[in-house]
Amino acid sequence: MVNTEPTPPKASVMAGRGYYSRHSEPQGAAAAPGFGYLAAAAAAVPLPAERFAPITIADYGCAGGTNEVRPMEILLEGLRTRRPSTPINVLHTDLPENDFGSLFALLADPARSYPTGREPVYPTWNRTLAEFLAPFEPGGALSGALEVVEHRFDITDDARAYPQFASDGDAETFAAAYTAFARAITEPSFFRWLRTDRPSGERDRIIADFYRDLQARIAADPVTATCHWRVATLRIRRPA
Ligand SMILES: C[S@@+](CC[C@H](N)C(=O)[O-])C[C@H]1O[C@@H](n2cnc3c(N)ncnc32)[C@H](O)[C@@H]1O
Repeated sequence: MVNTEPTPPKASVMAGRGYYSRHSEPQGAAAAPGFGYLAAAAAAVPLPAERFAPITIADYGCAGGTNEVRPMEILLEGLRTRRPSTPINVLHTDLPENDFGSLFALLADPARSYPTGREPVYPTWNRTLAEFLAPFEPGGALSGALEVVEHRFDITDDARAYPQFASDGDAETFAAAYTAFARAITEPSFFRWLRTDRPSGERDRIIADFYRDLQARIAADPVTATCHWRVATLRIRRPA
């Protein structure tokens, strides 16, 4: 039989653009004997003392994610069974050049992902300054086409975007405004996971309850709730 698949794209340690994900059955099979250990760990790991404090699962070396699905399902099922109220963060790590596009596509695909249908998925990747600058450096994808004239790296404090809070410290007013900001950037992503056959009134109620609870938490501890963004600003130009 003729192999019609193109040769693997160059990438990180593993081939990119989904090639490794489509051709890593042996690695998946090799990991399977350890699944019993994962189930045992999920049953035994101490849960946070505080009922709603999160627990984090760290996955080191995720590649495109295909072989991470079953292990994550085992851990999530084990932890959920013990205490459904505990929020669970799943942290997938790999090298900066990794095929994260394939990972994110997998996580958002209801047919393939481990959280879909049960949890909202909000994949993010926060670049370091070095990662922002890398494409412009010799050998980088933009090298020769664009150059960085100057750059800066700042740590901002969202509280300063709300002069009212800075001046009077009124946590309730701040929480209302900051919840609206959070809602503007999260509602479509979080709540598209609600079952579409729910009556719309029920959907609205779930969303309203979520943001009401968030607002109460922000009001109770506004300093912790405020984001301190790491912002890279680059002034770039075409070389003369
Ligand atoms: C053999 S692959 C396994 C991928 C996947 N977990 C699986 O089972 O199919 C090993 C992965 O580890 C990643 N890796 C290597 N060194 C790493 C490091 N220092 N930190 C994070 N990931 C690393 C590689 O880029 C590669 O994607």
